[in-house]
Amino acid sequence: MASKQVIGVFDSGYGGLTILQEIRALLPEYDYVYLGDNARTPYGSRSFEVVYNFTRQAVDKLFSLNCRLVVLACNTASAKALRSIQQCDLPHYGTEKRVLGIIRPTAEAICSQTQTRHIGLLGTEGTVSSGSYSMEIRKLAPDICVTGQACPMWVPLVENGEAASEGADYFVRKYIDDLLRKDADIDLVVLACTHYPLLYDKIRRYLPQHINIVQQGPIVAESLRDYLQRHDDMRSALSQNGTCTYLTTEQSEKFARSASVFLQSPIDATHTDI
Ligand code: DGL
Repeated sequence: MASKQVIGVFDSGYGGLTILQEIRALLPEYDYVYLGDNARTPYGSRSFEVVYNFTRQAVDKLFSLNCRLVVLACNTASAKALRSIQQCDLPHYGTEKRVLGIIRPTAEAICSQTQTRHIGLLGTEGTVSSGSYSMEIRKLAPDICVTGQACPMWVPLVENGEAASEGADYFVRKYIDDLLRKDADIDLVVLACTHYPLLYDKIRRYLPQHINIVQQGPIVAESLRDYLQRHDDMRSALSQNGTCTYLTTEQSEKFARSASVFLQSPIDATHTDI
């Protein structure tokens, strides 16, 4: 009998840990491999071709490490690479492999949460300019108006451990003001980048109180649970020892130090080339 397989979670850096944490809280029994491409982060301002190539290499790595299912826990990768990977690359890996993104489940979860039908989207340049959220939301609720705001300084602040610093306040306020200047009727803001929950306290401080904030972690975790419930073949092929392995394309000590802060518990990490 073939050995059981694991779930891969990919992000350009640390951000996907905010998703992994929620997935493991909801589905602690499974085994996970987290891969952060910290050496090449940020992805947010890179071209379609580059994000696609980097993401494809990461997916390839995770499949070679016995993953059966890979979650792209990165909006930029989901926006720019998911479709091409599903259509062009997945068929070569065998019929049982799957790659899931995080934009569609987020869109499905949020459409009922706005009264004004005006949603604000905070994300990387890549995610905002791809129009992926507007497209998915339009399919589900054509009356909703989506206004995007790229926040190119936020990921570098998080990746460099400056999320809680005073310097971060300037850029948090700036992008929120820019968003609300474009559309004053927004009553729901989506943190459409997995790094942004690390800036949550500041974002909450500068957003008017009547505007609700959506974080993706619980949504993605719930949608993965639903997926596994609906796919017996996938569920029964996955091992259940409750472990998680952390891989980074950067220095392992640096990753372990920062990730332990994000996850609020110590972890070990291993360097990998992809
Ligand atoms: N965390 C990723 C996202 O959700 C992108 C970060 C980056 O720019 O690399 O979009």
